Amino acid sequence: MFLLPSLVSTLTVLLLLSTLLLAATEDYYNLLGLSKTASDREIKRAYRTLSKKYHPDKNPNNSSAHAKFVEVAEAYEALSDSNLRKIYDQYGHEGLKQHQQGQRGGGGHHDPFDLFSRFFGGGGHFGHGGGQRRGPDMEVRMQLPLKDFYNGRETEFTVEKQQICEDCEGSGSADGVVETCQKCGGRGAVIQKHMLAPGIFQQVQMQCDGCGGKGKSIKHACPVCGGARVVRRPVTLTAVIEKGMPKGTRLRFENEADESPDYVAGDMVLTLQEQEPKLGEEESAKTDGTFFRRKDNDLWWKEVLSLREAWMGGWTRNLTHLDGHVVRLSRERGQVVQPGQVDTVKGEGMPIYHEGHLHEHHDGDEFGKLYVEYMVVLPDQMEKPMEKDFWALWEKWRLKKGIDLGKDSGRPSAAPHDEL
Ligand SMILES: *[C@@H]1O[C@H](CO)[C@@H](O)[C@H](O)[C@H]1NC(C)=O
Ligand SMILES: *[C@@H]1O[C@H](CO)[C@@H](O)[C@H](O)[C@H]1NC(C)=O
Ligand SMILES: *[C@@H]1O[C@H](CO)[C@@H](O)[C@H](O)[C@H]1NC(C)=O
Ligand SMILES: [Zn+2]
Ligand SMILES: [Zn+2]
Repeated sequence: MFLLPSLVSTLTVLLLLSTLLLAATEDYYNLLGLSKTASDREIKRAYRTLSKKYHPDKNPNNSSAHAKFVEVAEAYEALSDSNLRKIYDQYGHEGLKQHQQGQRGGGGHHDPFDLFSRFFGGGGHFGHGGGQRRGPDMEVRMQLPLKDFYNGRETEFTVEKQQICEDCEGSGSADGVVETCQKCGGRGAVIQKHMLAPGIFQQVQMQCDGCGGKGKSIKHACPVCGGARVVRRPVTLTAVIEKGMPKGTRLRFENEADESPDYVAGDMVLTLQEQEPKLGEEESAKTDGTFFRRKDNDLWWKEVLSLREAWMGGWTRNLTHLDGHVVRLSRERGQVVQPGQVDTVKGEGMPIYHEGHLHEHHDGDEFGKLYVEYMVVLPDQMEKPMEKDFWALWEKWRLKKGIDLGKDSGRPSAAPHDEL
C-alpha cells in the first residue's frame, strides 16, 4: 500500500514529460508553411518541397534535418487525409494521437521513406551509387547577357518535366486500389503459341495486353494522369549565377530530372550560355554592355576615334561598365593613338570566379583586364576650301618633316611614301 504515492508521482512525471514532448511538436500547418485553409494541392506541394529539403541523403550526419524529415511526413499524412485533418484541426496533436492509437492499436507511423518514394520514385532514397535504378539526366540551357555574368544574379527559370502525379501519388489509381493483372499474374508478359506449320509450334513471349506490360491493373484510373502515374508539369527552380562564372558553366540540380515511380530521378544540368547582345534594348540605356566582348577573364572594347582625336589627342570618353560604373578613357593634347592600338586597363575586366570559394573573403574582388582597341575613321568628304587648306598645310610640312616610310621600314623603295 505504501508504494502507491511513489507510483502516482512517477505517473505524474511521465504525464508531464509527454505533455512537454507534445508541446515541442510544431504545429503541422506551421511546419509545412501553410495556413489552416490550405488546399490538398498546397499540402502536397509543401510536402514535395520540404521532404526533399530535409531528406537525410541531402543532409548527411544532420540529426535535426532527419527529425524534420520525419515530422514533415507525419504532418503530410495527417493533413492529406480529410478525416485525420478534421480531427487534428479540432483536437490537435493529442487528439490525433489518441485516434490513431485507437485505430491501429498502438499507433506507429508509416515509414517516411515509403511516403517519399510515392512522390519521388525509387526506394525513398536518392541512391547515388546505391543499387537503385536512376533515370537519365536532363540538359537545359539558359541564355544570359554578359551583364549577368559580370554582376552575378539569382534567377528563376521554369522547365516542363515529367513528375510523379501528385493526385494519385504515383499509383495511377483514383481510389488507390492497384490490383495484380489477372491475365499475366503480374509478370507483364504472356507466352503465346504460334503455329508455324501443322504440328510445329513456336512459343513467343509477348507483352501482356491486359495491363500493357505493367503487371498491374487499375479499375478506376486517376483522372489527373489517366492512369499513367506521371504528368508533365512546369517546375520553377532558382539558379544562382556567381560573378565571373565562365560561359558554358554547368549548374547541377540534383534529382531534378524527369521523375518516375520506377526509378530515382537523375539530375537536371543547366548550362549557362552567353546571349548575343541585342542592339537597342533597354539594357544599353544604362550600360554599354552591348559592346563589350568577353574572353575568359578579360573584356574587349572597340573605341572609335576621329582622325583629329587620334592625331591631336585632347579627348575623353566615358564608358559605362556592365554594372554602371564609369571607366574614363582619355588622351592629353599631343598624344597620338595609332589605328589598331590596344590599351590595357587593369582591373576592369571580368570578376575572377573561384570555384568552390564562394563564401571565402577576398580583399575585394579580383578582376581581369579590359583591352581597349582603337579604330580611327577618316572623313569621307571635304569641302573644297577645306581641301585646299589641308593640301597646302601638308605640302608645307611634308617637305620639312616627311620621312620616307619605304626606306624607314627597310623595303626596297620604288615610289617614295611619306608620313606626312
Ligand atoms: C558522417 O559521419 C560519419 C561517422 O561519424 C563519417 O564517417 C562521415 O564522413 C560523415 N559524413 C559527412 C558528410 O560528414
Ligand atoms: C542541419 O539541418 C538543419 C535543417 O535543415 C539546418 O538548419 C542546419 O543548418 C543543418 N546543420 C548542419 C550542421 O548542416
Ligand atoms: C566624363 O565624365 C566626367 C566626370 O563625370 C565629365 O567631367 C566629362 O565631361 C565626361 N566626358 C564626356 C566626354 O562625357
Ligand atoms: Zn497483365
Ligand atoms: Zn494520377
